[in-house]
Amino acid sequence: MTEPVVDIYLTPDHADRSLRHDARVGLTGDPKWLPPKWFYDARGSALFEEITRLPEYYPTRTESSILSAHAGDIAGRTGAHTLVELGSGSSEKTRLLLHALREAGTLRQYVPLDVSQSALRAAVTAIHQDYPMLAVHGVVADFTQHLDRIPGQTPRLVAFLGGTIGNFFPDERAAFLGALHKTLAPGDWLLLGTDLVKGPEILVPAYDDSAGVTAEFNRNVLAVLNRELGADFDLGNYAHVALWDPENEWMEMRLRTVAAAKVTLPELALDIVLQPGEEIRTEISAKFRKAGIESELATAGFGLDSWWTDPQGRFALCLARTR
Ligand code: SAH
Ligand code: TRP
Repeated sequence: MTEPVVDIYLTPDHADRSLRHDARVGLTGDPKWLPPKWFYDARGSALFEEITRLPEYYPTRTESSILSAHAGDIAGRTGAHTLVELGSGSSEKTRLLLHALREAGTLRQYVPLDVSQSALRAAVTAIHQDYPMLAVHGVVADFTQHLDRIPGQTPRLVAFLGGTIGNFFPDERAAFLGALHKTLAPGDWLLLGTDLVKGPEILVPAYDDSAGVTAEFNRNVLAVLNRELGADFDLGNYAHVALWDPENEWMEMRLRTVAAAKVTLPELALDIVLQPGEEIRTEISAKFRKAGIESELATAGFGLDSWWTDPQGRFALCLARTR
């Protein structure tokens, strides 16, 4: 038995300052926008878990099926001692990898990293219960800022699943991959889960489900601003919008103002006015093609080792190695 450890790099004070900064810049911009990491308070993380079980939201179960089929392969090819997972959430799918790496006999340590302290703590407890001999070292941190704090020994396998890489804009994605490459040693591995380009008849419902869970998840960012900054957004006044942008090949989520509103953010000493129909942009979810990923990885210093998809070609897992 090794008792799990959790390092915290997002102090309440740091989170608070960073939320204030993002809210001020985003809500005074034109168009208005809010960065996605603020979705994931305890309620947001729970809503995301609900999204993963929706019939329309195919990415999670598709990625799981690819992981089930190839986890043994991944374990054999990497021989990883440390499995790091960025944006680990509930770590549910990760069990497939942990299992295969344990069978292969190489795994010593699991390092889940997430901004959501509630999700991370729950995952650390659950994984420790089922893998008592594994050293679990959780990290509450922002993967755009704290990659250099990640513990572990080479050969490391860094998993970034769920298509979360698609939530970056292209320039942020390049910066992230470059920063990640810098923190890794030659011969370390990246396992990247990416959603693939497909028709809007599949994509749009995945981000606008009939039960309205995604709409609630999207609006939750306003609840975070109400709680943390004393704002007075009336959640009922913002309609969830999910659009497919065929030029950029990304899904875009927005909150559309129904009736004109004046919102007060006392903690920022800021009042904002929203016109009817005015939209706040909240998130993109980029969809990928193999050639694009391969070239972005190469630019960052990774060589593609393996590429696996489901039979319908909806989602891809790719294994890459640092050069
Ligand atoms: N990997 C899980 C969860 C994906 S949802 C899956 O595949 O189902 C995205 C996860 O990334 C959430 O758990 C969220 O809390 C986390 N996250 C979002 N932005 C982050 C950031 N900047 N730094 C660290 N974690 C982040
Ligand atoms: N990483 C997930 C994705 O891009 C996050 C997500 C799922 C999401 N549904 C959402 C983000 C709805 C915002 C709104 O698929």
